[in-house]
Amino acid sequence: MKFFVDTADMAEIRDLAETGLLDGVTTNPSLVAKTGRPFLDVIAEICEIVPGPVSAEVAATDHETMLAEGRKLAKIAGNVAVKVPLTRDGLKTCRVLADEGTMVNVTLCFSAAQAILAAKAGAAFISPFVGRLDDIGESGMGLIADICEIYRNYPHFETEVLVASVRGPQHVVEAARLGADVATVPPAVLRQLFLHPLTDKGLAAFLADWQKTGQSILGDKSAEAAE
Ligand code: G3P
Repeated sequence: MKFFVDTADMAEIRDLAETGLLDGVTTNPSLVAKTGRPFLDVIAEICEIVPGPVSAEVAATDHETMLAEGRKLAKIAGNVAVKVPLTRDGLKTCRVLADEGTMVNVTLCFSAAQAILAAKAGAAFISPFVGRLDDIGESGMGLIADICEIYRNYPHFETEVLVASVRGPQHVVEAARLGADVATVPPAVLRQLFLHPLTDKGLAAFLADWQKTGQSILGDKSAEAAE
């Protein structure tokens, strides 16, 4: 399973990239707005830090302008995935960009029918928003299960299921159980994945016992330096 981070915050991206666990980045207009920085600069900078796919979303809603914006975004770097909304014009744009060799992430997916269309349009990624479905009392993970099942029936579909609008570690675990290809996760949730109270407790006990031995695995550095 691949982990993308869902943010445009450069400090967060740098920090998480250092773990070696980050496979890509997703941004959206709301996340870019939070940075207060020029969009194209933000995307270029992220692409330099993370070699995997970096999603950059178009702002237009009509096909012609979306296509022009998508082509401009794709020129920023080879790892840009142009993000288009799941609308008729968005999918039309997806088809053209995909045929030109550009990765496209189709976003704002809320139904299995929409996901089928995105795969037919040649999307590299489909982004179903699980948290927003849960928010209105529907099952976000039910949608992921449906899409994974459907895509498995058609091996020629190359679209990866990118679970978006993730709200907690349980969404990530459920997505992995269902075989989703990618989870895009807010930085705070990615950090939560590392944590378990029994890990902290166990480590504290091991370290306390190790102290009692009086040993050092690296030896006495000051003694070595004096030799
Ligand atoms: O980037 C798309 C998606 O992950 C947004 O999530 O939390 O705004 O529903 P959220």
